Formats: sequence, C-alpha cells, structure tokens
Amino acid sequence: MTTSTAPLPIQACSPAEAAREVAREIAALIRERRAAGRMAVLCLPTGRTPLGVYDELVRMQRDEALDFANVTTFNLDEFLGLPPEHPQSFRRYMRERFFARIGLEPTHTWIPSGDVAPAQIAAHCAEYEREIADAGGLDYALLGIGRNGHIGFNEPGSARDSRTREVRLHEVTRADAARAFGGLEFVPERAITMGVATILGARRVRVLAFGADKRDILRRTLEDTPGPQVPATFLRGHPDVRLLADGAALGR
Ligand code: GLP
Repeated sequence: MTTSTAPLPIQACSPAEAAREVAREIAALIRERRAAGRMAVLCLPTGRTPLGVYDELVRMQRDEALDFANVTTFNLDEFLGLPPEHPQSFRRYMRERFFARIGLEPTHTWIPSGDVAPAQIAAHCAEYEREIADAGGLDYALLGIGRNGHIGFNEPGSARDSRTREVRLHEVTRADAARAFGGLEFVPERAITMGVATILGARRVRVLAFGADKRDILRRTLEDTPGPQVPATFLRGHPDVRLLADGAALGR
C-alpha cells in the first residue's frame, strides 16, 4: 500500500450510535472467528473517545451472551516511566474500564510495558511486533485521534513505515494529559507506541472522533496531503477504513 490521497470514508453519527456500531462489528467478528475455531485479534485505544464502545461491549456480554474467550487484544501505546499500577497508566485504564469488567484473561491482553528498563526498550518493541505477527496480525483496529493528528502515540513527524518503538511525546499531547496527571511536570516525556505501519496492517480500521475539539484536526486529516505532519492522514487509502464522527467534530 502506498500513501494515498483517497478520501477517508465518513459515517456521521452520535457518539452513542458510533459505540453501538463499532461494538456490533466487533461482536460479529468475535462470533465469526469462534465459529471458525480462531481468535479475534483487536487493537485497542485509550482516552475518552472509546469509553462508549467498552461500555457497550460489557453490556453485550451481559445481555447478549457475547463471549470474549477467543479474543486477544493489543493496545496501541503506553507511557514510559509508569509502573502498571500508576493511575494514569494505560494498563490500569484498560483493566478498570474494560478487561476486568468482562473477565478477559490477562494472558490475552498485550500492552507495551511502561516500566521496561531503558536498555530493553528496543527488544521489547521488537517482541511486541512479533507477538502481533504470531497472533496472525490485527483483525480490527479501533483508534481515536489526538488534537495534533496522532494515532496511538505516532506524533507529528512519524513515518508511514514506522513500527512499534519509543517516541518523545509532542507538547500538545503532554498538555492534553496534564490535567489527568495533576500538572504538566508529572506527564511522562516518552512513550512506546505501535507504529503507523503496524496500525495500517490491521485488516479493518475504525476511527472515532467526537466534539468540537477535534474539528480542526479532522479537517486536516480529511483534506491535507497525506504525510507525517498529520499522521492520521496515512489512514486514507487503507482498504477497509471508516471514520465515525459526530456533527461537532465534522463541523456540520
Ligand atoms: C491519547 C492516546 C490516543 C488517543 C488520543 C485521544 O493520548 N494515546 O490513542 O486516541 O490521545 O484521546 P481522547 O480520546 O481522550 O481525545
């Protein structure tokens, strides 16, 4: 796949409709894979945006007997320097917001390690790529989008062929995280993220964007010439990508 100026298919919908639609697609994938005796491999984000999807999947487990036994998950990213129990670690977010609620086996959930020793980071990232490949690749990548156009923590400047690696966080990303951390000085400066190419390797990609805060970056994602200045532009041209966004984010 080469960088493409193809338009990004858009579905305008409310956050609640988007959550139901994405959860429905994920549930159908899980059931289809189970019927074939296979695992469903999901790529999952953190942030505020996907919370409705997690709530809806929890509801489907309770009300519709959705079974997660054949699910493997790989998270997009993690802050470096945070132990797994840190209140702002993505591992803790995922456990509290999703994994513990559905009883997902910890052995089926992969998240880059935030407390890996500096000398081990490169090997840890290579291992993450290997685990994704060994799982058969990502079936379904769910993404949010940062106000600077990042996907995962692929900050402006990230190459289309980038893989899982250590990155320095962009000032907009750190400023957006400052409130949750109780001050900018407590926000880590570095992180590990799946690469742009890792994400684009997913067989299906769904991007969520809600609220007026995302309007400017969404316009650039949809209209700019694709390139590293807005990493989300690289999603255009993926063979099965869709943006689910509300009117406020779309400026409609
Ligand atoms: C975070 C994550 C991204 C996420 C983005 C937007 O820091 N690394 O994966 O999509 O920023 O967050 P939110 O959904 O809270 O707007």
